[in-house]
Amino acid sequence: MRQNLSRPHGFEPLAVEGTLPPDLRGTLYRTGPGVYERFNGRSVTHMFEADGVVSSVRLDGASAQGAARAVEGDGYRKETEAGRPLYTSAARWLDRAPRFYRGDIKNTGNTAMWSHQGRLFALMEAAVPIEIDPDTLATVAETNLGCIENAFSAHPHYVASRGASFGFGATFGPRMTVDVYALPDDGPARTIQSFTAPFSTFVHDFIVTDHHLVFMVCPAPMRLLRVLMQTRGMKEWFDWQPERGTEIIAIPIDDPSRITRFTTDAFWFWHVVNAWSEGSVVRAQIPRYPNLASYYDVGENMRDEDLPALYELTIDLERKTCRSELRADLTLEFPHVHPSVRGKQHRATYGVLGWAGSDGERGIARIDEHGEVVDHFTPGADHRVSEPVLVPRHRGGEEEDAYVLTLVHEATREQSYLAVLDAGALDAGPIAKAWFDQVIPETFHGAWIAS
Ligand SMILES: [Fe+2]
Repeated sequence: MRQNLSRPHGFEPLAVEGTLPPDLRGTLYRTGPGVYERFNGRSVTHMFEADGVVSSVRLDGASAQGAARAVEGDGYRKETEAGRPLYTSAARWLDRAPRFYRGDIKNTGNTAMWSHQGRLFALMEAAVPIEIDPDTLATVAETNLGCIENAFSAHPHYVASRGASFGFGATFGPRMTVDVYALPDDGPARTIQSFTAPFSTFVHDFIVTDHHLVFMVCPAPMRLLRVLMQTRGMKEWFDWQPERGTEIIAIPIDDPSRITRFTTDAFWFWHVVNAWSEGSVVRAQIPRYPNLASYYDVGENMRDEDLPALYELTIDLERKTCRSELRADLTLEFPHVHPSVRGKQHRATYGVLGWAGSDGERGIARIDEHGEVVDHFTPGADHRVSEPVLVPRHRGGEEEDAYVLTLVHEATREQSYLAVLDAGALDAGPIAKAWFDQVIPETFHGAWIAS
């Protein structure tokens, strides 16, 4: 929940309810905003500003160990030395404004976990990766991986056929520069292309297939003066200007110099479910939002007309067109597909059902190719589920041949637990639960590392 982690700790035994699957061996790492205030001072006004907390559950087929610790980036450490907040809305204007103006932005590591070349990183939107020790969750250091100019987004994508992850980072100004990176399994990371957009904005995720990298720049320009002067909170940093439309910028992986760009109708999105290339046509599924409303309170307090629906985009790079077709009229966020079908047309989509909106309870759902909810785990009003992470059970298996891991906050007990679900029988409820003895603050994205 939107509160501080109360007790940081290294790996220690968790109480297990049910029976952990013997073939589920590895470690789940998750991160999310988890330090909202320090020094008994003001709380940040937007959850994206809070320092990250990395939480982890290690499973050995029979028992579970858990750990949780704050991410201590350079900004966090400077604040520790100063004994007061220096950044974000928690700090005095005189402390935060000059730092922000110099480009000294706090790196919180509060958005996603990423495993690359045997190392573990906590990521946020507008800063370099922060390396985390996988055995202690201690913060190692911020790193540019020898290549990152300024920032690295929280959503790099791994492409198995290329043996590489692809990521990007944005540099803000009157125009926005986006640097696109290839990060191979072996060897150094490199910049493969850069492009500029006519205004700075928030680009959270992008489309990646075996052949294309496609960016969607939604019409939410940053109010630059307001941001630079630090006179308003982060909720008021962006304008929604639908008349500008959404710009599509496509980069072929084999020839990154051949950029295709054009504008389509306005929408907002956070995440890409999955995407694949069919010649010069890219197909991608996204929870598509009509506007920016989901940004203000991160999915809370949303009106029905602001809710997303699941759409399939058909992006024709020769004709320079983008067609959006409704696939499912429901609010599904933190979407995932089985790892074996990433980059290919998939059948089953997993995600958090009811992530936004006031009616109904949150649950983990699987929807089929017709957009029907065919299976769901809805634990109740006092439970709050998080992103489902899929762990494949057998190579080459069906799209339901996986475990689904989700961290659940249980309000009545004021504790969080990891739920282990069968991806093919979500409605049977957890096979096992591994209980922390405290609440783990809300997490966004996780990474599973098999052992
Ligand atoms: Fe995300």
